[in-house]
Amino acid sequence: MKFFPCFGFLLLFFYNVSCSVYSEVADENLPFSYQPSGWKRVFEKMLEKKRSLPFPFFSNKNDLSEFALCAICDVAMSVILTERGFDMTKVQIEAQLQYFCSSFLGIEDDRVCEGIIDVNADAVLYIMDNTKDTVGSTQICSQLLDCDVGSKYFEWTIGDLKGKTVDKVESTGEKTFKIAHITDIHYDPNYTEGKVLKCGEPLCCQPDQPDATADQTACGRWSSFKDADSPLRLLNAAIDGINEQDYDYVYFTGDLVAHTVWKTSQEYNKKTITEAMDLFAKKFKKPVIPILGNHETHPVNLYAPLNITDDSINQKWLFETVFDKWSKWLDEEAKETIKQGGFYSILLKKGLRVIVLNNNAAHKENWWNLYDSEDPYGQLKWLVQTLEKAENNKEIVHILSHIPSSSCMKVWSREYNKIIERFSNTIAAQFNGHTHKDHFSIYYDSKSVANNMVINGASVMPDKANPNFKIYTVDSTGYDIMDAEVYSFDLEKANNDKIETIKWEKLYSFANEFGVSKLVPSELDALIKRMADGIKKKDYTLIDLYHKFYYRNSKSSQAKCDETCQKKYICEILTTVHGETSMCDNLWT
Ligand SMILES: *[C@@H]1O[C@H](CO)[C@@H](O)[C@H](O)[C@H]1NC(C)=O
Ligand SMILES: *[C@@H]1O[C@H](CO)[C@@H](O)[C@H](O)[C@H]1NC(C)=O
Ligand SMILES: [Zn+2]
Ligand SMILES: [Zn+2]
Repeated sequence: MKFFPCFGFLLLFFYNVSCSVYSEVADENLPFSYQPSGWKRVFEKMLEKKRSLPFPFFSNKNDLSEFALCAICDVAMSVILTERGFDMTKVQIEAQLQYFCSSFLGIEDDRVCEGIIDVNADAVLYIMDNTKDTVGSTQICSQLLDCDVGSKYFEWTIGDLKGKTVDKVESTGEKTFKIAHITDIHYDPNYTEGKVLKCGEPLCCQPDQPDATADQTACGRWSSFKDADSPLRLLNAAIDGINEQDYDYVYFTGDLVAHTVWKTSQEYNKKTITEAMDLFAKKFKKPVIPILGNHETHPVNLYAPLNITDDSINQKWLFETVFDKWSKWLDEEAKETIKQGGFYSILLKKGLRVIVLNNNAAHKENWWNLYDSEDPYGQLKWLVQTLEKAENNKEIVHILSHIPSSSCMKVWSREYNKIIERFSNTIAAQFNGHTHKDHFSIYYDSKSVANNMVINGASVMPDKANPNFKIYTVDSTGYDIMDAEVYSFDLEKANNDKIETIKWEKLYSFANEFGVSKLVPSELDALIKRMADGIKKKDYTLIDLYHKFYYRNSKSSQAKCDETCQKKYICEILTTVHGETSMCDNLWT
């Protein structure tokens, strides 16, 4: 039983890596929001070992219910919390974790386990040691597995919002301009063609991994289908592809750093960010509005509160790097807040304000929320003030944030939705990244009326789809998105044919294919009802189209999307508060 206390640590450490791009148990056919969490994978590994574990409740693997998982979590966490007083040094703990990770549970291989433990150790131990008196097993399991979701844990509010939203400024489409959207590049400077694609580590195509033999699939010239990031030539091709289009601004919604999450460092991430932002500055012909992703920080996902003054575990280095690298596109007002947490606002043109959030801090996978979850960096408070100012100045707003609000802490996403409702007519559109999939979501007010929308940029790195960027036609009066065009190319064909220059093709126009005149909440709401009605009547035209574009017509698009998968697509569109699924539940009852 001596090793048992380590489970708690083990879980905290492994979540980060197992939740990243690598997911053996992931069903190819489930929308992003429904991929099993990395946690389930860890617990499944534990259950496979159940005979050697002191968990009596399970007789077979089918018992893996939510309840069972929460029970395991609670027991493991309670023990670790009770026994934390043990005088275990960091070195002892690391050694035991290493044993559990590689030898005992076989979650990753030796070097990945060692790396992931090493990069996470200081921050996770700090959080553990400094939440002794306040954080219990129930809270931890609530954040990890949504056990007891909606409970009193992490409860706070930004308070009541005064006033009502202004009248909507209609978009007529008479005068428009273009915005290019590029996201989730995951630039991998070490990407190596010819390595074995199924490498068994969280990221493949690395120089120190084996070469592919004749009967194995090799990493291609332009990146590869799964567990491969973007080589420099793909990043260059994406910028060149956008430059061939007409555009006035570029929105970049985060994730520059590769998925080598077991060997990131402040230095390495800083280098990647610097290199990529210098390339943007050199090549893009128009201003860029950049934001932070959950991969920009080190270790991945962890954004510490500002009062954590230890520079080895806080993000001072990151905020300073982006302050420097983004400054050529920003004005004094925008620069004021970047070092306070990586967020800012900028008047893009007369009448249009862009608000950039660093909502990675509110991401469910940011363990600092166990330490202090209340309105990270004071961003929501600042958001309200900034929206009030915009409203008074008769400006329309676009909000850019990396993580879909439904993947943030429940309390944060609830308060965020409250703000969206209050300012719904000031905010014309929101833009996300992170999921690597082409989708959108609709925000609803307390009376279930659609009041806002968010569109996802999908990704440049493939992640089971074809690389893409988007070009939006935006109305010059109401700043609604009139159309979203998606540009992509056939990755497998480009690799097989050893193409020298990528020719980006227009995959589709959202307005044409889905029959809307503009991407506004009311029209998207009507579209989703048509889609859902189609499913009920077994007319799958619209949902099949959605499935095809979700993966940019790659081989994942050919995999069948059955009724469960179809309904989950609809629910993903209708969910903007974490765990709050009543909008979609009502649709099927
Ligand atoms: C990149 O490759 C070099 C050479 O193999 C290696 O030493 C280095 O650790 C790699 N860096 C990362 C972050 O993968
Ligand atoms: C940081 O702020 C939080 C919330 O106010 C507080 O609980 C915590 O003790 C502070 N930490 C430090 C190191 O000052
Ligand atoms: Zn990403
Ligand atoms: Zn991300």
